[in-house]
Amino acid sequence: MNDQTAPAGVMPAFRVAPGHPASLLPAALPVRALLAGTGGYLPRRIVTNDELAARLDTSDAWIVERTGIHQRHIAAPDETAVFMGAEAARAALANGGGTAGDVDALIVATSTPDEAFPATAVRIQYLLGIRRGFGFDLSAACSGFIYALGVADALIRTGMARGVLVIGTEVYSRILDWQDRSTCVLFGDGAGAAFLVAGGGSGASTDRGLLSTHLHSDGALGDILSVDGAVGRRDRPGVLLMNGREVFRHAVARMADAVDEALMANGLSHTDVDWLVPHQANLRIIDAMGRRLGLPSERVVVTVDRHANTSAASIPLALAEALADGRIRPGQLVLMEALGGGLTWGSALLRV
Ligand code: COA
Repeated sequence: MNDQTAPAGVMPAFRVAPGHPASLLPAALPVRALLAGTGGYLPRRIVTNDELAARLDTSDAWIVERTGIHQRHIAAPDETAVFMGAEAARAALANGGGTAGDVDALIVATSTPDEAFPATAVRIQYLLGIRRGFGFDLSAACSGFIYALGVADALIRTGMARGVLVIGTEVYSRILDWQDRSTCVLFGDGAGAAFLVAGGGSGASTDRGLLSTHLHSDGALGDILSVDGAVGRRDRPGVLLMNGREVFRHAVARMADAVDEALMANGLSHTDVDWLVPHQANLRIIDAMGRRLGLPSERVVVTVDRHANTSAASIPLALAEALADGRIRPGQLVLMEALGGGLTWGSALLRV
């Protein structure tokens, strides 16, 4: 169809003008996003299952048996999404040997921003003393960190950015119905971050870095995990609603597909994977994914027992922990996967 005759309401397709001078394109495209550093922040206050059982019709035994969760961290009023995200990002930057001047972009994955705008990312940019580049928030619920990795990878591969802070920061305690035992026991608050830098470049070769990311969503399944309101709506701030059994069923099937897709795209097999760093929603889902990959439990990073489900923060928190304690070592292959409201799901393969 000719763009000039596009019907009202339909944007004409964008086309690069013929004869676009190749000299405007970056001469040496960086080939990979390398992981330079990670960091995390967990709220000071720990809430145990027993503490919840004292005011809800639940028990430590039920929660542990169905989910593997023993406790969660819950944010105080001063531990906002911005504050926690900034702490995690500052740690990731320092850990990666970077300074404010090395950051071209900040991508924050969050479903629980403090404000509709300015974006959480821009607030964090300011707190970290970064006075250049750009930042924005990304909403993909519990898959947010994988989505943000995918976007950061694209920015780096296309030469739009050389240093990117990817941050997941969540205050789910704000959107939980604390009377609903079927949801409130599952989640916690926290933030995690990764500092990615361009590596490789034309002529150079490296097998390190983000090998690929694979993102998916299906709006037909939106109602099985949702928040029925929005930030800034005083009449309807929204609480988390979930059909747990349906989410469980889809989680295992979709993440298994995403994992296979990532391995196939790189010509790798299950036996090549050194570590699974999965989204931390439920130990039974994590165990099912580990079994499917044939990975012994010592090769699966688990934080859900202590953090519960921190949504977009869960993978970077787990990654930061396992790198800090020396379990994950340079050169090892890390597979990450997540599923969240939307539904959204995806996977990422990283050689550390
Ligand atoms: N304490 C005690 N009993 C509880 C409870 C709690 N915290 N929450 C629910 N129950 C009860 C239910 O009311 C139900 O009682 P009933 O049989 O009398 O109706 C019973 O436990 C079984 O509920 P059900 O929902 O079938 O349990 P389940 O085995 O499916 O486990 C989940 C529930 C939520 C733990 C599980 O479905 C799950 O983990 N789903 C995935 C959730 C998830 O990962 N979400 C985030 C994705 S990012």
